Amino acid sequence: MKNIGVIGAGHVGLVTSACFSKLGNKVICCDNDVEKIEKIKKFIMPFYEPGLEEIVKESVEKKLLSFTDSIYEVVKNSEIIFIAVGTPSTSEGKADLSYVENVTVEIANSLKKLVEIEKERKIYRLIVEKSTVPVLTSEWVKKTLQLLSPTGIEFDVAANPEFLREGSAIKDFFNPDRIVIGVESERAKKIFEEIYSPINCPKIFTDVKSAELIKHASNSFLALKISYINAIANICERVGADVELVAEGMGLDKRIGKEFLKAGVGYGGSCLPKDVSAFIHIAEELGYQFNLLKEVQKINSQQRLLIIKKAKELLWNLKDKNIGIFGLSFKPETDDIRQSPAIDIIDLLKKENANLKCYDPKAIENMKKIYPDIFYSYDPYEVANECHLLIFLTEWEIFKKLDFRKIKEIMKMPYIIDGRNFLDYKNLKSIGFIYRGIGRKVE
Ligand code: UGA
Repeated sequence: MKNIGVIGAGHVGLVTSACFSKLGNKVICCDNDVEKIEKIKKFIMPFYEPGLEEIVKESVEKKLLSFTDSIYEVVKNSEIIFIAVGTPSTSEGKADLSYVENVTVEIANSLKKLVEIEKERKIYRLIVEKSTVPVLTSEWVKKTLQLLSPTGIEFDVAANPEFLREGSAIKDFFNPDRIVIGVESERAKKIFEEIYSPINCPKIFTDVKSAELIKHASNSFLALKISYINAIANICERVGADVELVAEGMGLDKRIGKEFLKAGVGYGGSCLPKDVSAFIHIAEELGYQFNLLKEVQKINSQQRLLIIKKAKELLWNLKDKNIGIFGLSFKPETDDIRQSPAIDIIDLLKKENANLKCYDPKAIENMKKIYPDIFYSYDPYEVANECHLLIFLTEWEIFKKLDFRKIKEIMKMPYIIDGRNFLDYKNLKSIGFIYRGIGRKVE
């Protein structure tokens, strides 16, 4: 059992805190958003993540997990301190590291206070970058701590990037493909070996810079895979081939793999778009033009436009047409709409003066904050009623179970665009729908 502190109660921080406490460690999770911390203490989670609330409740009851807004509390009680604060994009698309810097300064100040109070004791702290940060951030963290920390403190800085996916973050924490750990000392390595010993997977120990790079390189590669299959989908449409079959045939080659070869409206979320953009900037600052990734971004934006093109091909003019949007979150099993394809597509359809009606099992309240003037309903049939066209943008399982016969009867026109190629188009066709997927051959 170790004493672990986690700074940041966002998706990464809160899931990391909950999961380490589930493994029997004593964890303090800290966030400077007092209201958020108060709500978590009452078991109101700041976002939807399957299984999270249950673990938080269980660990708090066992006194293995607590919450605070004081970094000093974390520094005082935790040998290992994970920095899991946000690294949002600046207006130029670079990673904004000011939160990481502020937290580092506060850790140093807290160490000063601790040394004053606990004069005798030898203090060691392992400071770990958990958020996705540009390569060389650890150098800055180390420099800042060296400069501001009092003498008598021993510390290590390490990088342990997270690879959690929203919607399956708990599962991903306990069953990762690998754990990447960048360390500079045997002492730090031993601590990581201990805290991750219950997790059975390859653990790769590297230097800190390589660990930082592994995260950026991995997320950008995933984005590249998605844009690659979307480019193939465009070719499929032109020749009358089916991208689903092409992806299956490619994916069976172990060197390629079948994951992240799902064509559609393109990637979104708080990670891939931000990380690709940050990586392009990091490379540029290092004197390398990462044109490959620029093209990945371009293909991704074009997929949003493709939906509008398909809608126009079906409906001619979109002005005053009732269009139902099914799926607002950036992917299923989450209420997160950050960089969601739905935002771009709603924006484009609004410019065409279409009448929009939206349905999503979890993300309506979040989308209302951006587009308050659109019609929303938790009843999918109310949304489909009188629609000329339905556009599916997220592959929620419950969408597959809708009564499409009923939907066909209440719609004005029988048009469906499947932006995720997940609906049973043969069934839809037999009911009388005119179906369009992405790069999909529909006889
Ligand atoms: C991503 C990575 O998958 C995680 O490994 C990483 O830890 C995380 O970013 C992060 O950096 O924190 P996440 O953003 O939660 O996770 O979601 P993904 O499952 O990667 O999906 C991203 C987007 O790509 C979604 O919009 C999804 O619909 C889209 N996607 C995914 C496709 O369009 N096609 C695919 O084949 C796969």
